Amino acid sequence: LMHPHPDVDHVLLTEQQIHDRLDELGAQIAADYADQPPILVGVLKGAVMVMADLARRIDLKVEMDWMAVSSYGSGTKSSGVVRILKDLGTDISGRDVLIVEDIIDSGLTLKWLLSNLRSRGPRSVEVCTLLRKPEAARVEIDVRYVGFEIPPEFVIGYGLDYAEAYRNLPYVGVLKRSVYEG
Ligand code: PRP
Ligand code: MN
Ligand code: MG
Repeated sequence: LMHPHPDVDHVLLTEQQIHDRLDELGAQIAADYADQPPILVGVLKGAVMVMADLARRIDLKVEMDWMAVSSYGSGTKSSGVVRILKDLGTDISGRDVLIVEDIIDSGLTLKWLLSNLRSRGPRSVEVCTLLRKPEAARVEIDVRYVGFEIPPEFVIGYGLDYAEAYRNLPYVGVLKRSVYEG
């Protein structure tokens, strides 16, 4: 892959920085959940890379399941209207659930997902996100594990897309404005 991709204004987080931080989060999660291994719930599609790299750093007998939800469609702004495209295959009642996300932007996706999963009677629900944009948050959400707080710019790569492209970039970069404006 070209580094950086021509549509990337600048690289925000290198592959090495991401992996180093996931080492820390994986160890922290393994310690926190030593007595009650969690079921990791990855939020498709953005969380695929984080889930794959984080799960391999949690030295516990975890389970993995997936939900697909979408609130962005092809634009750069969250609609706040969340649709379930694929539900869990697991009954999470009485379970310790750890949601794995790539990014919390407005927080609307996660707010909806938390209330949806809590209604299924799990023992606990916590969140691990690689990225969070504090300045963009439209709702307050208590997030236990945050990889990096980032500025309010449109980021792509490492699972994150713009109109379904760029998910396979191994780093997180800021998308050039010219790509989505004008
Ligand atoms: C993106 C991202 C998060 C969510 C964050 O998903 O992966 O799930 O938006 O935005 P929010 O905090 O403003 O709600 P998207 O809906 O684009 O679907 P995708 O993961 O398939 O790209
Ligand atoms: Mn997503
Ligand atoms: Mg998206």
